[in-house]
Amino acid sequence: MERSLTMELVRVTEAAALASARWMGRGKKDEADDAATSAMRDVFDTIPMKGTVVIGEGEMDEAPMLYIGEKLGNGYGPRVDVAVDPLEGTNIVAQGTWNALSVLAVADHSKLLHAPDMYMEKLAVGPEAVGSVDINASVEENLKAVAKAKNKDVEDVVAIVLNRKRHEGLIEEIRQAGARIKLISDGDVAAAINTAFDHTGVDILFGSGGAPEGVLAAAALKCLGGEIQGKLLPENAEQEERCMKMGIDDIHKVLHMDDFCGGDDAIFAATGVTDGELLRGVQFKGVHATTQTIVMRAKSGTVRFIDGDHSLKKKPNLVIKP
Ligand code: FBP
Repeated sequence: MERSLTMELVRVTEAAALASARWMGRGKKDEADDAATSAMRDVFDTIPMKGTVVIGEGEMDEAPMLYIGEKLGNGYGPRVDVAVDPLEGTNIVAQGTWNALSVLAVADHSKLLHAPDMYMEKLAVGPEAVGSVDINASVEENLKAVAKAKNKDVEDVVAIVLNRKRHEGLIEEIRQAGARIKLISDGDVAAAINTAFDHTGVDILFGSGGAPEGVLAAAALKCLGGEIQGKLLPENAEQEERCMKMGIDDIHKVLHMDDFCGGDDAIFAATGVTDGELLRGVQFKGVHATTQTIVMRAKSGTVRFIDGDHSLKKKPNLVIKP
């Protein structure tokens, strides 16, 4: 992949974040998602690449834009797989709470896992704890391993978990082991990324969330030198069949970094829609809007935080009226 693609892709997540941020707190998650999707789709057309969506807004018959298999880019440049979540945290924006992101990942053709839209059990850690955790080990063992790797006591470790009924047992196990917990309402991509940044205060992500979000988190952690492990959780025969169709023969297999995102390169970009521990959300003031984006590349290991100041006067396409 061309190095310059990295910077080009920032414009894509910025546009999606700017569009969806207008819907903050309006209680309309679908409208916020549609605005992000449409803005993202428009900017993708200008990007020099021959992309195919492998993680998107759904199958062709259920999503009008950014559907799986859709071709993206201006038709020139490298042939790449594209994973998108124009608005990761639709409820977050609807409620105006923390950590909604516009997210994408790009990798060389055929290198991203074609994860079906179902739940996946996940375990994610930042660089210091890579190689010391195991999704098949107990919660206590993993907490001890992270504590040791980060030179902390288990009592100092913070586990981040989606606040869901299905996680009641998991939460109890973390409490029993003595670690601290950060419960979140939504947004496990941001949660996984945050394990790689000390100042966010989280050390390990446990629990199940969307499998497509797992691929996005893996691309981010590949760039950051972190790790995610996953196990698909098909709930019925139809979901099992979907796994097979997407080329996943062994549905019980533990998925490691190379299964999620193979090869030596990947580009990941995320722009904050609402404020979070890592990224500020979009702020509007008159004809200006500001954004903050993290963009990074696995091959070079470069991680950039980019502040954008956008003139809504000069770019009327960025003016979204809810
Ligand atoms: P959406 O943006 O599609 O609403 O997803 C938000 C999210 O919290 C993801 O981060 C997470 O992987 C998934 O939903 C969890 O699903 P559920 O809400 O069904 O527990």
